[in-house]
This record gives sequence, structure tokens and C-alpha cells, in this order.
Amino acid sequence: MRKAVIPAAGLGTRFLPATKAMPKEMLPVVDKPAIQYVVEEAVRAGLTDIVMITGRNKRALEDHFDREPFLEQTLAANGDHVKLASVRESSTLADLHYLRQGDPKGLGHAVLRAKAHVGNEPFAVLLGDDLIDEQDGILTEMARVQDLTGGSVVALMEVEPDQIGAYGCADVHPGSVDGALSIRGLVEKPEPAQAPSNLAVIGRYVLHPRVFDVLEQTPPGRGGEIQLTDALQSLAVSEGEGSGVYGVIFRGRRFDTGDKLSYIKAVMTLALEREDTGPGLRHWLDEVMAPVA
Ligand code: UTP
Repeated sequence: MRKAVIPAAGLGTRFLPATKAMPKEMLPVVDKPAIQYVVEEAVRAGLTDIVMITGRNKRALEDHFDREPFLEQTLAANGDHVKLASVRESSTLADLHYLRQGDPKGLGHAVLRAKAHVGNEPFAVLLGDDLIDEQDGILTEMARVQDLTGGSVVALMEVEPDQIGAYGCADVHPGSVDGALSIRGLVEKPEPAQAPSNLAVIGRYVLHPRVFDVLEQTPPGRGGEIQLTDALQSLAVSEGEGSGVYGVIFRGRRFDTGDKLSYIKAVMTLALEREDTGPGLRHWLDEVMAPVA
């Protein structure tokens, strides 16, 4: 597997007004935009051909992964090699391609835009606003399961039962197949009382290209959007080449940077772990959290 699709064309309404003129994927997590962490994760998994699905406000995304000659010259002239390397890094990460989604008609619609670029090979999808623990290597494990099963694979995370309504939810067969769960059904954002499990679909997928044919036939679903979950539901119950959906459980940390609280937690967590920001932030937090005498 060489190709990854990173959808980043959503409206980001949960983060307005910050996302009025800027994609939410560009919100900084300490000093890098969220999407750079996602691109770096794809590259670490060996996915060097990356197609980003952008929409209105695409400029900031493209500019971030492009060269910035004037800034580079200035930093070089000042001998600021550390900053120069950090500016250049994002432009050398991978072979990046951009496709416009036009109207944001849903995640399924965004993924379908990549059909011609991906062609007839399995590919990864990484949501541009989903940050996961970099040590975990989940994409590599998902690619292994895809290879063994010939189907599509989703990343699943156990959540508190009352949280499941914020996610796609998996109904799984008992037992495991090749180290993965076999999925018999998927529901987008169920009422917690009706949810078949507490297994939430998170923003990493390894898909068989048959998903494109299914997406073309998928009518708008929840929220009037073409849902990737609905296409995966069809694949889970279909037969023949490329059918079947499997789940790999993710047990690391995950942040949805499109959600305000989760975004703040992502910034704090990463800032606390870093040498340049951790000690100062910890000291300040101790002061702020200390009970008033
Ligand atoms: P979200 O479910 O977070 O939706 O999308 P959203 O519209 O971006 O955000 P809110 O709910 O209004 O705050 C999950 C991922 O799918 C992309 C988003 O950019 C995000 O990375 N997406 C979503 C698209 O690329 N196109 C779409 O039409 C919808």
C-alpha cells in the first residue's frame, strides 16, 4: 500500500468562528498544524503518495506544504538553521496532491473524489483532524489485516457507552479473524440506547478500492451527507471481491482537533511532553490549580 487520502474539506462548524477563514486542519497543536502530524503519520507508515481533499480555504493547506523562498532566505541569512529546517520539513515530507471537493457533501463524497488518483489498489484514509499516538503503528497493522482478508479495515476505539452517539459504531461478530474483529454492521452516530456496541470508528481506514463503486451508489444519509459509514455497511454485508469489513482496536491516545475540548487536550498533552514547553506549562498549571489559601 502506497497511497493515502486525507480528507480536509469539512466546514468545521464545531470550531467557528476560528474556522471561518481557515481550515480546522490548520489549527496549531503547539507549533505545527494538526494536519502535519497526520501527514507525518502517513509517511511513517510508508505512504508516500498522499492526496489531500480540500475545499474552500484550500490555500493555507497548500501553502503550508509548499516551499516559502522568502522566509527560507531570511532564516538562512540570519543563520537560524533550526527554524529553517522546521520550515523546510513540511515541504519535503511526501509527494502531495490536492483535489477539490467543491461542495462538502460528506466524508464519503470526499473519499470518492480520490477514485481516479487511487485507481485499483488498497489505500489508507486518514482524517485530517484526528490525531493519534504516533508510537502505535495502527496503519501498518490495518494494512496487514487488509492484505490477509482482502476486505476493508477500520480503526475502532472503545468509548464510554454514553459517548458512542458522537461516532460511527461497529456491530461485531464474536471472536476474531486474523487478529481483527469481523464487522457485521456499522451505524453512524446511534442513540446510545440503540448502539450495538461501545466500539467507535475513529479516523483511520484501509479500504479496498471497491468502496468507490459502492460510494457512487450510496445516497445521502445522516445529515444529508454521503456517509463513508453507509458505504462500509454495504461492503460488510456484500459478497465477492473486496467485500467484508474488519476492525482493529486502537488503544493509544486520540484527539479530535475539530472538537474544542479535545483540541485543547491535544495541545496541553503535547506541550506537557515537550522539553521546550513542558516545564514552564507544568509550573504554571501547578500555580493555577493550587487551591486558593
Ligand atoms: P467531520 O465529521 O469532523 O465534519 O469530518 P466537519 O464538517 O469537518 O466538521 P463539523 O462537524 O462541522 O465541525 C471528518 C473529516 O472529514 C472531512 C473533514 O475535513 C474532517 O477531516 N470532511 C468532512 C470532508 O473532507 N468533506 C466533507 O464533506 C465532510
